[in-house]
Amino acid sequence: MLARIVLVCLLVGCAVAQGVKNENLRWKINGARRMAYSFDPRYPQQARQTVMRGIERWNQVLGDCLPLKPRKANDRDYINVYNGGGCSSMIGKVGGGQALSLAVNGCVYRGVVIHEFLHAAGLIHTQKRPDRDNYITMHWGNIVDSWKSQFTKESSRNIGNYSAYDIYSIMHYSNTHPSWSINNRPGFTAKQKKADYRKIGYGDDFAKSDVQAIRRMYRCPERKFTTDVNNNNRNNNNNRDGNKDRKPIACSNE
Ligand SMILES: *[C@@H]1O[C@H](CO)[C@@H](O)[C@H](O)[C@H]1NC(C)=O
Ligand SMILES: [Zn+2]
Repeated sequence: MLARIVLVCLLVGCAVAQGVKNENLRWKINGARRMAYSFDPRYPQQARQTVMRGIERWNQVLGDCLPLKPRKANDRDYINVYNGGGCSSMIGKVGGGQALSLAVNGCVYRGVVIHEFLHAAGLIHTQKRPDRDNYITMHWGNIVDSWKSQFTKESSRNIGNYSAYDIYSIMHYSNTHPSWSINNRPGFTAKQKKADYRKIGYGDDFAKSDVQAIRRMYRCPERKFTTDVNNNNRNNNNNRDGNKDRKPIACSNE
């Protein structure tokens, strides 16, 4: 998966700051800003319902800018949601049908759905931003080798700055994760004094900065945005999708 996506990046010139600069990687269907999605026929019905809650939230927040709509028969470019080996997406529109994996076991949470579709729209992980060293200190020795590429910086040649660095972005990794931290030690620490690590990487909704990044990338007017009250609270079990057992996001793209 990793190799495949790196290859795609090379082919298209991998234009990814917080978001890809390369306009060819941005969604436009028949001249209009729009993203199209479909489900793999084998994708279970129950999981679809949660994915649909993510898509509904997307359209509430970004429907005027970059709506996410079911694929029409003549849409050549579209995102196909399937039950892959984890949570992953390509960065931006790569052309044709592009796979977006939301594994039934571990990825079916509203926050993860929004996270993966934000990749598909062109956003990279926040901790890969060219300016991240101003905001976090890396602890490379605590990260499993095969996951280190999720923490390497992207070049500002490819990545545009469409919103200020936000450690609470839904595109930021948590500081530890069973998949990649060695002995549960932190992969990074925040430079800001009062960072709340329970909220980093556990988002259930867009952060304001995520919405701003998409609106700037796609040249949409800014609009007032309010996160759900329950956003970003790993201890809160009352939200609609029940984040009780939610693990932080560790999707493996780019
Ligand atoms: C990115 O843009 C934000 C404003 O949205 C600004 O505060 C920040 O300094 C910029 N970062 C870089 C590296 O240019
Ligand atoms: Zn991701």
